[in-house]
Amino acid sequence: MKDIQQVLEDRRDAARMGGGAHRIEAQHSKGKLTARERIELLLDEDSFEEFDMFKAHRCTDFGMEKSHPAGDGVVTGWGTINGRMVYVFSQDFTVFGGSLSETHAEKICKIMDMAMQNGAPVIGINDSGGARIQEGVASLAGYAEVFQRNIMASGVIPQISLIMGPCAGGAVYSPAMTDFIFMVKDSSYMFVTGPDVVKTVTNEQVTAEELGGAGTHTRKSSVADGAFENDVEALAEVRRLVDFLPLNNRGKAPVRPFFDEPGRVEESLDTLIPDNANTPYDMKELIEKLADEGDYFEIQQEFARNIITAFIRLEGQTVGVVANQPMVLAGCLDIDSSRKAARFVRFCDAFEIPILTLVDVPGFLPGTSQEYGGVIKHGAKLLFAYGEATVPKVTVITRKAYGGAYDVMASKHLRGDFNYAWPTAEIAVMGAKGATEIIHRADLADAGKIAAHTADYEKRFANPFVAAERGFIDEVITPRSTRLRVSRAFASLRNKKLCNPWKKHDNIPL
Ligand code: HXC
Repeated sequence: MKDIQQVLEDRRDAARMGGGAHRIEAQHSKGKLTARERIELLLDEDSFEEFDMFKAHRCTDFGMEKSHPAGDGVVTGWGTINGRMVYVFSQDFTVFGGSLSETHAEKICKIMDMAMQNGAPVIGINDSGGARIQEGVASLAGYAEVFQRNIMASGVIPQISLIMGPCAGGAVYSPAMTDFIFMVKDSSYMFVTGPDVVKTVTNEQVTAEELGGAGTHTRKSSVADGAFENDVEALAEVRRLVDFLPLNNRGKAPVRPFFDEPGRVEESLDTLIPDNANTPYDMKELIEKLADEGDYFEIQQEFARNIITAFIRLEGQTVGVVANQPMVLAGCLDIDSSRKAARFVRFCDAFEIPILTLVDVPGFLPGTSQEYGGVIKHGAKLLFAYGEATVPKVTVITRKAYGGAYDVMASKHLRGDFNYAWPTAEIAVMGAKGATEIIHRADLADAGKIAAHTADYEKRFANPFVAAERGFIDEVITPRSTRLRVSRAFASLRNKKLCNPWKKHDNIPL
């Protein structure tokens, strides 16, 4: 018996060594943890249960029959994050560069199938050179099997991708179909093809960092939802994110104990809005003052900063926040902010997370670059996402809600459940100056008349009361009481039931 146990232990030890001591050292020397070290940090202590530790590839081409590392370059299994079950795969760069073979794919598919069956999130730790070159079409088939599962799992279980090394080819397309992608600064890269291929095909000379580093994907392409300083921080932050999320689309997000008064009055909010309507203020201050303990998790912090998307908790319950940011481009809607917010709204709706919308929006950004880029279609994404969402929707207009952007930002007309406005709200087709210059064009040469018309327009429309008189605003509330009002609104909506008409699926303007 002892001998058999020894055999098992020896085989386990060999599997744990992945591609060998020198490759593990190389991994550490790049500031990267190994696949197993990452799982250890991601999951609760001693909660990891591994599958397929001894699975090996079946390839016999290009001398591959001489090397059969146990596990075939990916560690898979399940464990818990603060006691809640998640499935995980972690690619091992020390084994054939973490590349995906037919068997490596089978391991990932097995845990994805189990995650779907048992209703738990999948967290993928990607550190892979893509399809295993020696296996040809077998590895491409393996990727397609993973892709198909990503698609079927979308909207059913949360899927989170961590990019923790150079990821190419299929290694970026699977993450691209998951809900969130997080990178590590200076050690992770995502590209369809690397700098060498780019040079050959397009003659462009570009570094890996410029082509697909964390800066590129969090600021320019918006492929990634966030980037962290190192592996340890990235794994800790994913644990924090998972705490905000339900395990699947049939469950509710966990209710966390909270140590904050739901009716906390924030007098400072009464002076948040500057006297001058064109002076910016930081919308994050409002989010922090509304959230339980001021805690929030921002998605796409570095991209389209004119809109903020974040998770907070109110009375311990997760709420998704979408908020215009007056500090950046005056908080206008444009192509990037519409896309960013639309995807966030759809995630929240898919996973039954109520949505709080904080509005201070001067309208859509005008101009040829926006029109040529398709702002009509991209803006429609956000409109569509809000309109189809059936989760509880509470909206607070703090200042401007002009034009089409008023409609878009979870207005009453898009089935907003509670539409609040602060007394400083201005709900109109456009700002007073622009409106006056159009409807009183004949008086343009007379500054006195224009000033009078502008003042008249402001008096009539630069307030929340015209909309409140029509019932488009349910109540004008004091800024200081916003946390109480919003918390109570969401509490009253906990049993909300709203269904869209039957359809195979919608046709959101992609
Ligand atoms: C097999 C691979 C591999 C791969 C890396 N290795 N990528 N083995 N298949 N795809 C092996 C290397 O041979 C090496 O083995 C070890 O992993 C480490 O690789 P290095 O090149 O030494 O590391 P580094 O310099 O850090 O470069 C990492 C890399 C580079 C940027 C990922 O290896 C690379 O460009 N690989 C190829 C990427 C690629 O084109 N993949 C195919 C994509 S097509 P030894 O034994 O020396 O340690 C694809 C199609 C899917 O994925 C379909 C999508 C729709």
